[in-house]
Amino acid sequence: MILYIDGTLRPESRTRELAEHLAGKLGGEREYVRLSQENILPMDFNALSERDRLCANGDFDDPAFKYARQFANADEIIIAAPFWNLSFPSVVKAYLERVCVVGLTFCYSEQGVPVGMCRAKKLYYVTTAGGTIADESFGYGYVRTLATGMFGIGDTVLIKAENLDVFGSDVHKIISEAKGEIDKLFI
Ligand SMILES: Cc1cc2nc3c(=O)[nH]c(=O)nc-3n(C[C@H](O)[C@H](O)[C@H](O)COP(=O)(O)O)c2cc1C
Repeated sequence: MILYIDGTLRPESRTRELAEHLAGKLGGEREYVRLSQENILPMDFNALSERDRLCANGDFDDPAFKYARQFANADEIIIAAPFWNLSFPSVVKAYLERVCVVGLTFCYSEQGVPVGMCRAKKLYYVTTAGGTIADESFGYGYVRTLATGMFGIGDTVLIKAENLDVFGSDVHKIISEAKGEIDKLFI
C-alpha cells in the first residue's frame, strides 16, 4: 500500500499535480491522508500527557496513534508539500509530530540510537516553489533526516519544480519538465 500524504492546500495546487503524476506512475493501491481535511492540531500539553500515558501502558491501538500506525505499515510513502517560508506548511509538521512515536515508527537502541520501525523502503517528497529552493535543509532535508535517521526509510527521493511564481515564467513548461523527470525514474 502506498501512503499518499497530501500537504497541499490550494485547489489548483501544482505540487498536487506533480504528486498525482508520480502516484499514477507508481500504480497500486493508495491510501490518502489529506492533511487539510484531518484537523490535526499542534501537540499541546494535554495531548502530550495523554500520549505519554498511552505509550507507558503500551496502548498502541489507541486512535491517537492512527497516523503513526498507518505510516509504519505503508510500503511506500509520498509526501506532497508546497515550499512555504523555506520549508512546508505547518500542518505537515503537526502531522509528523503525530507520526514520530517511540514504539511504533522508531525505537531506541541500548546505546540511545534511533532504530527505524517503518516497513517502507522508499519515500518520495514532492514540492514546488515560487522561487528557487536555495537550501533544502528545512523542507526536504528535514523530512529526509527523519526518514533515514529515525524511521529507517533509507531511500528518499526529491521531486521539485521551481520558479513557478517568477514573473514571466512558463509554468506549464516547468511542470511538464518536472513530470518528465518523474517519468525518467520509471524507465
Ligand atoms: C504562505 C506561502 C509561503 C511561501 N513561501 C515561499 C518561499 O519561502 N519561497 C518560495 O520560493 N516560494 C514560496 N511560496 C510560493 C509557493 O512555494 C509556490 O507558489 C508553490 O508552487 C505553491 O504550491 P502549490 O501550487 O502546490 O500550492 C510561498 C507561498 C505561500 C502561499
